[in-house]
Amino acid sequence: MTHVEELTKFLSIPSVSAQPEHAADVDRCADYLVQKLSSLGFSAKKYRTDIHPIVVAHSPHVEGKPTVLIYGHYDVMPVDPLSEWKSDPFAAEIREGRIYARGASDDKGEIMAHILGAQELIAELGSLPLNVTYLFEGEEERGSESLQELIKDPAMQKELACDVIVVSDTGMAAPDVPSFSYGLKGLCCFELEVHGPKMDLHSGIFGGAVANPITALCEMLASTHDENNHVTVEGFYDGVADIEDWEKESWKRVPGMSDAELAELTGVPSLRTEKGFSGAECVYARPTFEPNGISGGYEGEGSKTVIPTHAIAKISCRLVPGQDPVDIMRKVEAHFKKVCPPGITMKFTMQHAGDAYMSNPHSPFGKAAQKALHDTFGNPPVLVREGGSIPVVASMSKILGKDALFLGLDLPDSRIHSPNENMRLDIFEKGIAMAKSLLLLMSEVKA
Ligand code: BES
Ligand code: ZN
Repeated sequence: MTHVEELTKFLSIPSVSAQPEHAADVDRCADYLVQKLSSLGFSAKKYRTDIHPIVVAHSPHVEGKPTVLIYGHYDVMPVDPLSEWKSDPFAAEIREGRIYARGASDDKGEIMAHILGAQELIAELGSLPLNVTYLFEGEEERGSESLQELIKDPAMQKELACDVIVVSDTGMAAPDVPSFSYGLKGLCCFELEVHGPKMDLHSGIFGGAVANPITALCEMLASTHDENNHVTVEGFYDGVADIEDWEKESWKRVPGMSDAELAELTGVPSLRTEKGFSGAECVYARPTFEPNGISGGYEGEGSKTVIPTHAIAKISCRLVPGQDPVDIMRKVEAHFKKVCPPGITMKFTMQHAGDAYMSNPHSPFGKAAQKALHDTFGNPPVLVREGGSIPVVASMSKILGKDALFLGLDLPDSRIHSPNENMRLDIFEKGIAMAKSLLLLMSEVKA
């Protein structure tokens, strides 16, 4: 099977972790990984959990050599809106040098690059020159609840013991400019529900006399930012470290991350950043508050003159080191209680959360990773932090006592989480070469 055929097979399994109707597919995807890794000589095992399985696989032991834990996720985001896809999200199609499917970049393409990199090394050398443990979970896109639980188990900590953690589930700046990331944002997700009248009301018979929950929700949401786009929630910025000068300087040189380029890529007329910060600085290192969805009242065709009973907003905050996700949710709840207008009651529900993470990019393993990127892509990597989150990484790094390094392959136009997600095939092949080079270089590091 060619590399692309192998990836196509992996992408054909609709392992959507958020949707119960895909539970059997997620399970089948874990089986596929166990079978693939076993065929390469790994001892691979599927751990059942209350939600989706976790796959752990070990290469044959090599005495005196470091152990690299390679983490990734085999679950994918829902495909909606399906009508926006140019081809079936689970029947990968190749168009103009890119493979299109849900998970092509996030994270199946990146996982497969690591697996095939190891496969090539085994084919060339007969075996791997160091110890590799793969840890692939099926719940990253919904908060990693089961893995967060499983890694509290001392037996699992022993099984995952390593010298360094490698993660390929992040971005790269441009096709010829790799990124080496040393930070991830934390995340907390919650819902705000506001209630008004006990039944939907005729907006003429009762309008003006009772508070409209949609107006109330919009007022409450609007109160979270001031005219400078700072978050007004009391204590929101407590503990947030200033961005270092060297970071500001180096981020100015990241391709595609100038304010003008970000506006062009996202199709907005201009950026709207927190006052005093560039777009890149906001994305990489400033905490944010973002409503992700809002609903309430009549959303069908035509008009309906109604005052609805309630309105709901789904919200998430991206956090940076120094902020605690649960503390932030409490502060946001207190803010909403303060601004909830008369005639309205509110309900605040906490959902999942994960800490921000920062590692040392200059460790011996960090240097080996940067060399693998440089050698493969022909240019030195840019040092960045990520605006995205991988919720389990901070706790895993803390529990295992080892740094996590991020070598991502997602390009700004890979459309992850979006219709027409894709991976450039040349990047996929380079990803395989990078994974190979990484294992060779890391095998020489004295742990
Ligand atoms: N691969 C992403 C995270 C990412 C993408 C980091 C690009 C940096 C650059 C990951 O799969 C993801 O989307 N995570 C979610 C986590 C959430 C749903 C709990 C996120 O960041 O929204
Ligand atoms: Zn994702």
